[in-house]
Amino acid sequence: MASHFFFLCTLLTFSLYFHGISGAIPKYVVINEVPTHGGGIKFDKVIGGIPYTKKKMRHINKYIWYKVFKQNTPADQKPLDNVTVFIKDFVGVEAVTWGSDKINVSAVFLRDYPGPMDLKWEFTSLMHHEMTHVFQWNGEGKTPAPLVEGIADYTVLKANYFPPGFTKPGSGDRWDEGYVHTPFSPVL
Ligand SMILES: *[C@@H]1O[C@H](CO)[C@@H](O)[C@H](O)[C@H]1NC(C)=O
Ligand SMILES: *[C@@H]1O[C@H](CO)[C@@H](O)[C@H](O)[C@H]1NC(C)=O
Ligand SMILES: [Zn+2]
Repeated sequence: MASHFFFLCTLLTFSLYFHGISGAIPKYVVINEVPTHGGGIKFDKVIGGIPYTKKKMRHINKYIWYKVFKQNTPADQKPLDNVTVFIKDFVGVEAVTWGSDKINVSAVFLRDYPGPMDLKWEFTSLMHHEMTHVFQWNGEGKTPAPLVEGIADYTVLKANYFPPGFTKPGSGDRWDEGYVHTPFSPVL
């Protein structure tokens, strides 16, 4: 009995400790709504599907907190239970972040992406941008949109996920200009 009790206490203590340290790490949910669409098929077969996406979300989440925002304690980090990615059939933009913790990625974009990088690389780059939107504070919606976009692209740039030769320092006019580095169709 005694040893069982000790074991239980150790487990509880460990669990509290663990959650105290990393309690803010969300659950990553990935839903491919269109597994038979050309883009849904590429998502599974070329990009690596749900396992790859979840693994990268965790990595990018930590990268954003610790390397980009320098939010080293849970008190600084935006607390989210889940971050959800939907692969779905829509046109107009590559991806959209909505409802503060959800990202819709266009299967049409994944199907038709022409390069120059490989699709898995491009998807990972896009996830850096959209995940930044998930975790960035935006002054309750008062932050100028170009600045919000500029920060998201800063993560992409810092993580080395802009195609080589795509941008050069000084190509913009203002620090809060935003989309200066993004000649592709707009990412919201
Ligand atoms: C988080 O995702 C799970 C599915 O994995 C779902 O059951 C749950 O309702 C979600 N929670 C929130 C707060 O969205
Ligand atoms: C994103 O996809 C979800 C799931 O299909 C849908 O309910 C939601 O309306 C979409 N959001 C936007 C902004 O398109
Ligand atoms: Zn954006």
